[in-house]
Amino acid sequence: MADPFDSVLPRVLPEPIAGEAFAPSNIALSKYWGKRDDALNLPLNSSLSISLGAWGTHTRVSPSDADSVAFNGAELSLEDPFAVKVLRFVDRFRRGQDLPLQIETRNSIPTAAGLASSASGFAALTMALADAFKLELSKSTLSMLARFGSGSATRSLWHGFVRWDRGERDDGSDSRAAPLDLSWPQFRIAIVPVDTGPKSQSSRQGMGHTAATSPLFAAWPAQAEADCAAIEAAIHARDFQALGSLAEANALAMHATMLAARPALIYLKAESWAVLETLRHARDEGLMAFATMDAGANVKLIFESNSQDDVRTTFPSAEIIEPFAHSS
Ligand code: PMV
Repeated sequence: MADPFDSVLPRVLPEPIAGEAFAPSNIALSKYWGKRDDALNLPLNSSLSISLGAWGTHTRVSPSDADSVAFNGAELSLEDPFAVKVLRFVDRFRRGQDLPLQIETRNSIPTAAGLASSASGFAALTMALADAFKLELSKSTLSMLARFGSGSATRSLWHGFVRWDRGERDDGSDSRAAPLDLSWPQFRIAIVPVDTGPKSQSSRQGMGHTAATSPLFAAWPAQAEADCAAIEAAIHARDFQALGSLAEANALAMHATMLAARPALIYLKAESWAVLETLRHARDEGLMAFATMDAGANVKLIFESNSQDDVRTTFPSAEIIEPFAHSS
């Protein structure tokens, strides 16, 4: 099968100039969990996310005498796992051409938030490479390329709500993301930090293990596809309650597939469940907020601006994000 990078990039890349890009991180409201093709990083189901505004990754790519990778101002050894992942992706772009690059990447995501940065990292790297090589590629095509860095990176090229269509083609050329053309200025996200250390198991390993061993996984792809469509409809209808309850149910269903894996894959900690319990009580008292959780222990809340004071009081450690305060 043709290399997807060969299909969209010029056969010979021009000499690079300095290029840079920012990409926001994102949180899926309807999750991607499970691949239909490992090599092409193709998802079993479509997913839909909200980007985190100014929280993301800024990457600068410049011509150099030799490859180097710096993270938050510190130059990394080329054996560092992060540098290895970055250069592996850059090599897919270069396809054997001798074009050494200096890659400088900075995260604006507070470490205390405990959020993974692979989504914004690979999206920013893809856009910075396109800038450095003066490529006239659409963001849609760049999102397809970012997918090879990490699945969630496919959705990190835009602000606001973004839908990643699973696509139908075997070569993955139609598995790309697109932004929903709407703004919801009252929409808020809160990150309730539970564990800011590294994940117990990467999402790639976690989804592979779940798909291979969980008896509940068979129900997931169709449910996830249906949730994604229903969540998109709720967003268009500005029906926050429907959106929130669907997003929470979708996240819990994903965690249910993991809990049923053998051995069980448990990302949530006692404190995560305590946050969910507090949220349920607060909701019984009228708070209109819902939770979503990824391949880690932190809980993310979604709500509208009129609930912000109550969310702050109920979850004092939460970091609050206004995803539509920032437009690119
Ligand atoms: O693409 P990855 O490896 O970052 O996996 C993302 C998996 C989840 O965060 C759990 C769900 C999602 O859609 O972002």
